[in-house]
Amino acid sequence: MNGNLPSSARDKTLFTPGPLTTSLSVKQEMLRDAGSWHYEFNEQVRQIREDLLSIAKVSKDSGFECVLMQGSGSFGVEAAISTVTPRGGKILIPNNGAYGDRMVKMARQSSIDFHELKYAENEKATPEDIRKALEDDPAITTVAVVHCETTTGILNPIEDIGPVVKAAGRTYIVDAMSSFGAVPIDFEKAGIDTLISSANKCLEGVPGFSFVILKRSVLEASEGNSRSLCLDLVDQWKTFESRGQFRYTPPTHSLLAFRKALEEFRNEGGVEGRSQRYKSNYETLMAGMKELGFEAYLPIEKQAYIINSFYFPEHENFDFKVFYRHLADRNLIIYPGKLTEVNCFRIGSIGRIFPADVEALIAAIRVALTKMNIPLPLAPIQSK
Ligand SMILES: Cc1ncc(COP(=O)(O)O)c(C=O)c1O
Repeated sequence: MNGNLPSSARDKTLFTPGPLTTSLSVKQEMLRDAGSWHYEFNEQVRQIREDLLSIAKVSKDSGFECVLMQGSGSFGVEAAISTVTPRGGKILIPNNGAYGDRMVKMARQSSIDFHELKYAENEKATPEDIRKALEDDPAITTVAVVHCETTTGILNPIEDIGPVVKAAGRTYIVDAMSSFGAVPIDFEKAGIDTLISSANKCLEGVPGFSFVILKRSVLEASEGNSRSLCLDLVDQWKTFESRGQFRYTPPTHSLLAFRKALEEFRNEGGVEGRSQRYKSNYETLMAGMKELGFEAYLPIEKQAYIINSFYFPEHENFDFKVFYRHLADRNLIIYPGKLTEVNCFRIGSIGRIFPADVEALIAAIRVALTKMNIPLPLAPIQSK
């Protein structure tokens, strides 16, 4: 919440999939410069890598490494796909949204052979489909699954898919961009070899880098795989290990902010504490939207408490741009939909927001619809 700030310094509240609202104290950490060669800074980077392993409940002793990568989350995903998929290998990508789609594009761009397992955007990937695809095609070496497909908010069952991938002797990559830190993930149970997330999602840092948590044995077996110089995770890891540094200019301010974000994460009770707050945000959101008559795109059992998609009201006065503007004028930022066939908008429950912020959003939505002369509660959606 920004309530302790003068209105001139008050930030917009972001109900988005990212970048997300961050705390004032996290932002304040960026008011310093750091020398990327300096030992104090390198110690902070080392600590961040260690802290990320401990949030994942793995460690160097249990054979895991954490490699930070400059850039947004997509840079981490592309680095993982490009580095971990062997030369001449083939990757299986279940695709039920924009981020599965992006992985397919990454494979294509890097000339990596791929098999796309296409699903509707409201369908979860299933272990059965993956088992069959792996049985049918021995050339597949690697499987990459999005955990929370932020396009809709659907949660793919990574802990059920993992054992199938492992039983078939393939390498398992999980894009946990919008879930890591807020949805418990059991690395061992899920058999995860490689997981990607970023600073500016549920750990509530600012944008600037992604991170990849992966087995050392996978890194060691991946030497020479990378189809990109900058996104080579093996080379990046070796430089961290030998010199304690990023290979190229690090996002210093973002890393300083992240140290603070991790401290606040611990103070909130880690994954458990954060998931409790996000669940409260989500419950407040769903109750408020239901009362206004909005309908969620996904059935309740498929929704995560990360981000949710709602159908546009079917009223002639509804215009998303006008609706958005009404909310933005009150410093409340929601997100357009990313669905290919249905008109939806999205509201996120993640970032430094609290149930009181969500209540303020619901109240502002009520006012916006009233100003647009749309009667409440909304009429049921006919075109589903
Ligand atoms: C599941 C998932 N994967 C990948 C990305 C891409 O991350 P970025 O936009 O930071 O590149 C996102 C972004 O929201 C995401 O939610």
